[in-house]
Amino acid sequence: MIQIPKGCKDVLPSQAYQWQYLEAKAREIAGAYAFKEIRTPVFEHTELFSRGVGDTTDIVNKEMYTFLDKGGRSVTLRPEGTAGVARAFLEHGLAGSALPFKAYYIISAFRYERPQAGRLREFHQFGCELYGAAGAAADAEVISLADAFLKSLGLKKVELRINSIGCKHCRARYHQALKEYFAPHIGEMCEDCRARFEKNPMRILDCKVEGCKKIAQGAPRMLDYLCDDCRAHFEQVKSLLTEAGIAYTVDASIVRGLDYYSRTVFEFVSDAAGAQGTVLGGGRYDTLLEQMDGKPVPAVGFAAGMERLLLVMEAENCMPPADTGAMCYLAGMDAPSREKAFLLAQKLRGEGISCETDLMDRSVKAQFKYADKTGARFVAVLGERELAEGAAEVKDLRTSASERVNFGELADYIKRRI
Ligand code: HAM
Repeated sequence: MIQIPKGCKDVLPSQAYQWQYLEAKAREIAGAYAFKEIRTPVFEHTELFSRGVGDTTDIVNKEMYTFLDKGGRSVTLRPEGTAGVARAFLEHGLAGSALPFKAYYIISAFRYERPQAGRLREFHQFGCELYGAAGAAADAEVISLADAFLKSLGLKKVELRINSIGCKHCRARYHQALKEYFAPHIGEMCEDCRARFEKNPMRILDCKVEGCKKIAQGAPRMLDYLCDDCRAHFEQVKSLLTEAGIAYTVDASIVRGLDYYSRTVFEFVSDAAGAQGTVLGGGRYDTLLEQMDGKPVPAVGFAAGMERLLLVMEAENCMPPADTGAMCYLAGMDAPSREKAFLLAQKLRGEGISCETDLMDRSVKAQFKYADKTGARFVAVLGERELAEGAAEVKDLRTSASERVNFGELADYIKRRI
């Protein structure tokens, strides 16, 4: 039997309500901040990600689903959403539209990683991007949106950690300091870190290899190298968060796994669902659009991992109640009553009441069993007598109460009771 590819997950109809709930919350909160949805392709030219996400990142070097299409072009399944949004922004000349540009997306993304709980090869993100505003208020607004989203799910044990990784000016000094620190150790470090040392020493701080992690522990902190502007920006972000009542801790170890960030970076973490604790990550990325040959446009955004959120919601008992079956099940005893049930069902659906009838020629007992198993709310059995009288006994499966109702009044009867 053919099985699902490793690292992918099916969402079965019995679980779909959890996703619908999560997505509805995302749309609701994004809407409250006046972000509008953007939809971009699942695959893009590979170069978009190698340039956008950065060719010293693990995502680009090890994790991309890249292939040649039949025309011989190299395309890649998106490993994240930001680069595609940036491309669309430039391609459609949206710098000329009303700024700030505020967009959100709910997407599938693909990374060839070693699967484990909360880490998949196909996963889903809810992300928000804000373009055009350089000030700290934009950072605070985006963090506040993320915070409101997590709170709207009822999560209480998710913590916000923030850091600043400076701009290209102060980062040059920091890179120098990192090189001086790592130079005596570089021989003991992994091959990737040796390459990072030359190309982008800050990436070493994101290495997952134990030995490298240990050496990196004593490395200089970016926070000690911030220029005056970056420091003032960070102070302002912190003070806006404090004023807004959003709790945070400064965590100098956050560098993020993508190259486009500058200044503010942040992560919301939880230890409720095992090792993959980062449920949401983001930051400012003021140079990405320029790197993609656009005019410089300041930007800030985040993405939340939906699968990780569901794990944390489960652990924190924040799952919504499971959805029920049809509002009404009309059972039929014989051929004429099945036909009547079919027609009555059409009418009820037209009145906005979800309704099912038997499609498998089952006995009344089996139909009842099905209605109960699928969580139908009301059941009515139609037979010769019901057809003659134009009325049927309607049973409320929640209360077990039943009442005789005329066919013509069925819709009103149910509406009054829900
Ligand atoms: P990221 O930190 O790579 O950032 O991913 C954001 C979130 O996606 C993570 O915090 C995690 O919850 C989830 N995630 C990432 N990889 C996986 C995986 N393999 N399986 C399950 N969940 C995963 C970005 O993607 C940036 N584009 C965020 C951003 C938007 N920055 C600015 N704007």
